[in-house]
Amino acid sequence: MSTKKMWGGRFAQGQDALVEAYTESVSFDRLLYRQDIAGSSAHARMLARQGILSGEEAETLCRGLQAILEEIEQDRFVWKPELEDVHMNIESRLTELVGDVGKKLHTGRSRNDQVALDFRLFVSDSVRNWSALLAALVRTLADRAQEHADTLMPGYTHLQPAQPVSLAQHLLAYAAMFRRDASRLADADRRIRICPLGAAALAGTTYPVDPHFVAGELDMYGVFSNSMDAVSDRDFVLESMFCASLVLLHLSRLCEDMVLWANPSFGYVRLPDAYATGSSIMPQKKNPDVAELMRGKSGRVYGALFGLMVTLKGLPMTYNRDLQEDKEPFFDLNDTVQMSLRLMSGMLSEIRFVPERMRAALDRGFLNATELADYLVGKKVPFREAHHLTGQAVAEAEARGIALEALSLEQLREICPLIEADVFSILDYEEAVRRRDSPGGTGPNSIRAQLAKLREWLGQGE
Ligand code: ARG
Repeated sequence: MSTKKMWGGRFAQGQDALVEAYTESVSFDRLLYRQDIAGSSAHARMLARQGILSGEEAETLCRGLQAILEEIEQDRFVWKPELEDVHMNIESRLTELVGDVGKKLHTGRSRNDQVALDFRLFVSDSVRNWSALLAALVRTLADRAQEHADTLMPGYTHLQPAQPVSLAQHLLAYAAMFRRDASRLADADRRIRICPLGAAALAGTTYPVDPHFVAGELDMYGVFSNSMDAVSDRDFVLESMFCASLVLLHLSRLCEDMVLWANPSFGYVRLPDAYATGSSIMPQKKNPDVAELMRGKSGRVYGALFGLMVTLKGLPMTYNRDLQEDKEPFFDLNDTVQMSLRLMSGMLSEIRFVPERMRAALDRGFLNATELADYLVGKKVPFREAHHLTGQAVAEAEARGIALEALSLEQLREICPLIEADVFSILDYEEAVRRRDSPGGTGPNSIRAQLAKLREWLGQGE
């Protein structure tokens, strides 16, 4: 079996069926239909404006393209693999609909600059969507942080209890990461949403085209500067994939916290039923599968980034068919990023934090040891010595199986006679957190300031 092609003028034989199946892209790049139609419409208007087509011809083309858009959205469009890709499927249908004038659409253009335009628009639209989802997630984190401004928990280093912090501070750490991710995307978008149309096959065109007009029609930031670069580079895809990788990396870290916190040994959170699954054999289990899968899918997103880097690294100038391999990994990554962000917002807004369990963990971990050392420094004990004496007090409390603040004043004074009754307010966890009000610290004023900045960024100032 073999088929004839739109580009088949110089070919005597049709294409082998396996070759067709191997090289076609319409099975996946049809997702670009909206961008392809918008790009072609802008191109047609530009051609008329430049006197390359008549105004009437351009109008006919745009009307035809609009009809095709409706056919596709209403699922009436017949996609044909033998027409290879989304571009030729749409162009061929256009000629069916509007007659010979359809054949004029491709004037001054090549599929090489056409696909670059379509994909730039698609990646940009996706990136803008991720930004909106990131903002929603930051809002959820800010809301939950505000609710838990006074909830104390252990802060960890080396996954060992280190110092008391507020749950708000822990949540706002993630809000800061996701806010940075959004700003990285906005920055990348200024390089992604650049018009490559007018580069034609690789060398530019003899027609008096106006890429700036097309860029304006499509709400783009600017136009390409070199035709060979415009049709052959895909760094804009890589950049979006790197930004996505960081989003998933941050999500994955948050997932890891949730997995740990849902473990009964921690018991800091109760997962909403809708976001957990049971075990087919162990009836007591409530597994954090969503968090685990999200952590797992981060690997797949990095895989898309690395895969495309390898695809691109050895390509000679300019367009090579290898470039068609940029799409499937991006589409897959796009689905993962969107779903993950939506799920994380949903899970966090419904998750139940368990302040009692966090509080209990504080007592077990001697998290106020630093406070005692700082207290002794206040009594003019050199820090190294204060550190050592505090270590002795911890050992004493540990041996008795009690918290540091449960030692009596006498017991404490035996370790260091400079200690007085005021030490107990210093050892208080609330106090310890309240005192850490340095910029960006876990203290209440800092939390308020962090929240205010986030709300301002979210455009809902308090
Ligand atoms: N499907 C192709 C791609 O994604 C479209 C461009 C084809 N250009 C060509 N000269 N064969 O790259």
